[in-house]
Amino acid sequence: MQNITEFTDPGLNRDSPFFISLDTVSNILNRRAPADNSKIEALFKAFGLQLEAEYLASPAEILKGQKAAPNPQIRQNRSELPDVAGFCGRTEELRLLKQWIASDRCRLVAIFGMGGIGKTALAAQLASQIQNDFQFVIWRSFSNAPSCQNLAIELIKFICDSQSKELPNNLGDGISRLIEYLQAHRCLIVFDGVEAILDSGGLAGQYRSGYLDYERLFKQIAESNHQSCLLLTCSEKSRDIALLEGQTRPVRSYKLTGLENKAAREILTERGLIKEREWDELIECYGSHPLALKIVSAMILELFDGKASEFIRQNTVFMGQINPILYQQFQRLSDLETEVIRQLATAGKPMTIAQLREILSVTASTSKLMEALESLGWRSLIEKITESGKVAFTLQPVVRKYALDR
Ligand SMILES: Nc1ncnc2c1ncn2[C@@H]1O[C@H](COP(=O)(O)OP(=O)(O)O)[C@@H](O)[C@H]1O
Ligand SMILES: [Mg+2]
Repeated sequence: MQNITEFTDPGLNRDSPFFISLDTVSNILNRRAPADNSKIEALFKAFGLQLEAEYLASPAEILKGQKAAPNPQIRQNRSELPDVAGFCGRTEELRLLKQWIASDRCRLVAIFGMGGIGKTALAAQLASQIQNDFQFVIWRSFSNAPSCQNLAIELIKFICDSQSKELPNNLGDGISRLIEYLQAHRCLIVFDGVEAILDSGGLAGQYRSGYLDYERLFKQIAESNHQSCLLLTCSEKSRDIALLEGQTRPVRSYKLTGLENKAAREILTERGLIKEREWDELIECYGSHPLALKIVSAMILELFDGKASEFIRQNTVFMGQINPILYQQFQRLSDLETEVIRQLATAGKPMTIAQLREILSVTASTSKLMEALESLGWRSLIEKITESGKVAFTLQPVVRKYALDR
């Protein structure tokens, strides 16, 4: 303790070249800022420790974050990283996802859920809460559907800060190099909106032509030994992830549904609606879907002076800008999936597989029907309920309304 005081007390050592302030000690220990070698040497000396030369990086290397741990920050596509201000709730989801990533050391974690349910917001909130656990945090939106090889090279360039030997010129080498980096550094990579590389018109979770390489990338990230985590958000679950995942495996997926009631109420409050008993009815009608609640709140403010009760009296499900979100999801459906949705919407009540088979207007084997139901579940468009021991399927009010209006 006496030695540390000697090194850190400005009254005693102000002029010493090894003088190290308590702030600097704290910055080094918390990896908040780069420190030069003399400061690190002073710190080691204060604790009576030997500092081997090989652990010292040149100041230039420290600044590039190569040898010393860099100041953790979300460095890539910073402008793309969604703002997390105004984020509500999701306490349980954040707890579980943090457990998977920090304690269980999952290598691949996927968040699935319908458009607008809050996957991007949750991933951004999670990334900002756990970033200090990582040396590199990379946010990559998939909105421009990057090819797998280009993306692998982009990630390699980012992690090695363009200091690498030659860049790999084929996918296999690209993935191998990336895995080497994921072994050497603890990286959090977020791929946001992976549905951009998935196909439409067939069952859920199939890659668009030209994007099949991703299956290989995901499999290798999931199965190789490394210390990093790839976090995906996607509106539908893919078969390859379904095959890789497991509660005791380092690959997990989380199906995101509506917000908890308290968080949904926070959104209504923040939007300026007048607090009323009818809020619960409104939240339930929109399945606690954050984007739908924002859209309907704006309309209630505009037309009903912020009174949800007045709107509910109209006895309709307002769609407005919710339509484009569902349009995108419906565009992706296979013919059989569309027909199943149409029947469930017309019935307006939960139906079992046997009941659905009877009323379908197209001929489909039970096996094909099961495939379609599984796929609709992966797209978060149908809900499964168990009624007196029997499994039945149903639609959320907004999905039903959209299907009936089509
Ligand atoms: N937990 C939340 N708290 C507050 N707003 C949220 C929350 N989750 C989502 N939102 C808002 O809902 C909208 C849709 O969320 P987003 O994350 O883009 O959905 P997704 O990525 O699933 O399509 C955005 O405006 C977002 O800010
Ligand atoms: Mg999103």
